[in-house]
Amino acid sequence: ALIKIKNEVDSSLTFRRSCREGICGSCAMNIDGRHHLACLCAIPKDNQEKSTVSPLMFMFVLKDLVTDMSHFYAQYKSIDPFLKRKHEKVEGEREYLQTVEDRKLLDGLYECVLCACCQSTCPSYWWHPQDYLGPAVLLQAYRWIVDSRDDERKARLKKVADELKLYRCHTILNCTSACPKGLNPAKAIAEIKKMLATSSL
Ligand code: SF4
Ligand code: F3S
Ligand code: FES
Repeated sequence: ALIKIKNEVDSSLTFRRSCREGICGSCAMNIDGRHHLACLCAIPKDNQEKSTVSPLMFMFVLKDLVTDMSHFYAQYKSIDPFLKRKHEKVEGEREYLQTVEDRKLLDGLYECVLCACCQSTCPSYWWHPQDYLGPAVLLQAYRWIVDSRDDERKARLKKVADELKLYRCHTILNCTSACPKGLNPAKAIAEIKKMLATSSL
């Protein structure tokens, strides 16, 4: 519908999209009061109702449905979202192996497409966007904390163990109900808190 409007009604309508299959995460927006990836949101065949489409909540709008993601990406960058090894193998020498069980720990985490639907529905994030990392970034932090191939687990935990960065999450759970990929950022945050409560950092 958005593409039809852009092609046939108003070519100035501006929104992000790329993959049209829920993988790139760029078409996140609010449709009829809920956050969605627009490309995964079907219009019912017999739909006679009007739909309301608006940008992700509580984010600065650049134009129409395009929000400013720079702060979100800067927060994502701050958790070092890449594998860290004490001794790296020579490039191309061999892959870093995982057991089947260790690989399973990444299920429900690696699928995150960084759409920010969860981030922009979290009331704690609305009040403290500068300090609180928010559900998407914390889910990503947890993804690297539990990766058995990574050597920086303690340092990663230490980095997020902060009153503002992590403990501003008050288990409101909007994040989990908003995720269009069916992921559970609230659980990832709870797991980080549990690890911190039982570890001797
Ligand atoms: Fe989007 Fe879900 Fe990832 Fe949040 S956890 S950024 S809602 S895919
Ligand atoms: Fe926000 Fe989700 Fe925590 S909505 S407060 S990040 S459980
Ligand atoms: Fe890529 Fe919708 S266009 S997720």
